[in-house]
Amino acid sequence: MSHSFTLDGQELAFVPGQTIMEAAQAAGVYIPHLCHNPDYAPHGSCRVCLVGVGRRQVSACTTRVMEGMEVDNASESVQANRRAVLQMLFAEGNHICPACERSGNCQLQAVAYYTGMLAPHYPPFFPRRPVDASHPDFIIDFGRCILCELCVRASRDHDGKRVFAISGRGLASHLVIDSPSGLLGDSCFAAADRAAHVCPTGAILPKHKGFERPIGERLYDREPISKVGDLRAHEDEVD
Ligand code: FES
Repeated sequence: MSHSFTLDGQELAFVPGQTIMEAAQAAGVYIPHLCHNPDYAPHGSCRVCLVGVGRRQVSACTTRVMEGMEVDNASESVQANRRAVLQMLFAEGNHICPACERSGNCQLQAVAYYTGMLAPHYPPFFPRRPVDASHPDFIIDFGRCILCELCVRASRDHDGKRVFAISGRGLASHLVIDSPSGLLGDSCFAAADRAAHVCPTGAILPKHKGFERPIGERLYDREPISKVGDLRAHEDEVD
């Protein structure tokens, strides 16, 4: 027996157990996301994938599809709430796009554009967080970390290393590195690790390669993220 639900008025099939995100992606429909990556278990932390279900808004990456469910992925109220979440992410970190080497290839920036965010809204926190340039091949700018835990999950679940973890709670939550000094250069992190290539912002960046592609030729200059998809399929272009 086939199962179906409705996404923006379009009837789509789903497999029981699938999340809204999984069913939408299987049908080729884009739902904005940052902490979601189909290679890893859902995390549900960024809240950018909000969709409307009845009178509620839920995260598409952690909510299972139910028979006959009607999902709103495109209304202005859904987009406005996503925009508010993104405005907060931008305010909470140091996301100065024109000065960032990931600009044009950045999922955070591209999703913000997709939702119609064109300027900051909340006063920025300008948190004082370090840049770790101790590794020969990669830097970490902690001011750009959005705590999506993709590097944590990739290092643990794919690389088998557990280089990264989140420490602290609430506003004090921050990314930490498992090494004697706490620096990336003292860890077993390597450029070939999956964890080096999953960051949806400019927090984890390769050295010696900044601004390689001119404006107009960068990944999300060419098409919006809803058409291009996430960085997973384009790592060779951005790393
Ligand atoms: Fe669903 Fe981050 S993509 S909460």
